[in-house]
Amino acid sequence: MADQKVSIQNIGTSIPVDNVQALAASVADSGAVPPRYLRPEVNAYPVAQDGDGELPVIDFARLLDLRFSQEESAKLHYACAEWGFFQLLNHQVPEEVIEQMKADIMEFFKLPLEEKKAFAQGPGGLQGYGQAFVMSEEQKLDWADVFFVITRPVHLREMRFWPTRPPTFRNTLSCYSAELKRVASTLMEVIAEALGIAPDRLLDIFDDMPQGVRINYYPPCPEADQVLGLSPHTDGGGGLTLLLQINDVQGLQIKNNGKWFPVRPLPGALVVNIGDILEILSNGKLNSIEHRAVINTEKERLSVATFLFPSEDAVIGPLPELVTKGCEEKYKTMSYRDFLKTFYARKLDGRSLLESLRL
Ligand code: OGA
Ligand code: NI
Repeated sequence: MADQKVSIQNIGTSIPVDNVQALAASVADSGAVPPRYLRPEVNAYPVAQDGDGELPVIDFARLLDLRFSQEESAKLHYACAEWGFFQLLNHQVPEEVIEQMKADIMEFFKLPLEEKKAFAQGPGGLQGYGQAFVMSEEQKLDWADVFFVITRPVHLREMRFWPTRPPTFRNTLSCYSAELKRVASTLMEVIAEALGIAPDRLLDIFDDMPQGVRINYYPPCPEADQVLGLSPHTDGGGGLTLLLQINDVQGLQIKNNGKWFPVRPLPGALVVNIGDILEILSNGKLNSIEHRAVINTEKERLSVATFLFPSEDAVIGPLPELVTKGCEEKYKTMSYRDFLKTFYARKLDGRSLLESLRL
């Protein structure tokens, strides 16, 4: 692929594999989960219990209020540096937009398989309905179907992948995407200020806030303790991820002190995490934390991850103002296009990509 052709909307491919929603329906009858989904590593690390810490909660309204912003942004910095994850309350995304997202997404996944497949991934990309990061015939598989589209900048939208059923879907996703752009822009500014760099420094790199939305559908599985909905990974292509849990089923777990820490979203919260790009730009001051999704035996689970990408022309490496004496440069510098190529050439594998970029 010629370098100038590498772009967030056309990079990556994945070997096509069975639809998991359909597979789950047949397994419910037969009881046998195919071996490719059985993962011996599921229980390799303990799951954290109550009392093993508390995921930081950040109040977006306080970040914007001069009386509290300093205190709240210090909390935000601590969350991004120590946990790499936090819950965001009072983000001001209108309730109607969230509720309509939930309703439209649930309805889309209820459609017959053939109707969903009208928006299936093509061979040359990852947009649409399908799966991602399947790179070999031997690789173990995740117990989930996904729907992914680039939502911003608006001129990069490829509408053929955007569902027309339910009829409100496109408009709802478009509104949600605009709301999340607003929230993410503010977070980028506050994160930059708390790092002690110019407030617009990150906004310049994430110019115009390129954005992708990934909807995860995790069907129930009778052998839930043997399968994974989403392999351990860090959010590789982006700087910041904002996750909305669609229904009231838990599944996200994050690596914290050698344990899997279950995230239980508070009512109305978005779960936000630092991606690889912000870890690298911040020269390791912020942390892109490994996380995974586990499966429920009886209930399906749905979530929406919104990823914020740097501009395609960006150069990704530790920001010079954060490379100081005693804090030497920790990662290689490369063009974002080269970074994308590396990211999409691999399966999801914990922090291995980030580690490979360490100096
Ligand atoms: C992701 C992700 C977690 C979840 O899509 O990158 O980490 O709870 N999702 O679905
Ligand atoms: Ni993730």
